[in-house]
Amino acid sequence: MARSSAHVSYAAPTVPMAIIMTVLCLFLANNVTHARTPATYIVGDEYGWDAIILMDTWAKGKTFYAGDILEFKYDLYSSNVMVVNRTGYETCIPNENAEEHRTGDDRIQLPYGLSYYIGTADAADCSAGLKMAIKAN
Ligand SMILES: *[C@@H]1O[C@H](CO)[C@@H](O)[C@H](O)[C@H]1NC(C)=O
Repeated sequence: MARSSAHVSYAAPTVPMAIIMTVLCLFLANNVTHARTPATYIVGDEYGWDAIILMDTWAKGKTFYAGDILEFKYDLYSSNVMVVNRTGYETCIPNENAEEHRTGDDRIQLPYGLSYYIGTADAADCSAGLKMAIKAN
């Protein structure tokens, strides 16, 4: 008798705990289901970061999210990637504090909002279309 009541009083608190664990598991599972793995985009696909295509056209119609990665592939001896502001993008002249990348294979993580990229190693490239404005959601 004493043994049985001891068992009951021990078991009682485990019921709410089981409910808490179930709710917690459902909550975590729900979060995992809705979490998004950052996508990696090869900018320009098979063309890479190159003035032979209009980079803004490549970006058009794609939905980007903050945290996604843009991989810029190009010939490091003849091109580069400058992360500029809107003025730099519009004028093709990098603004002060523009960030230059020049490894030939740069992975740049998209910040939330608008960001601008231009290629300036060859002055004609940006005007020819080696420029890209991207809005990350
Ligand atoms: C871009 O940066 C330059 C230099 O810092 C600045 O003069 C210009 O106003 C900036 N443009 C925008 C749109 O913020």
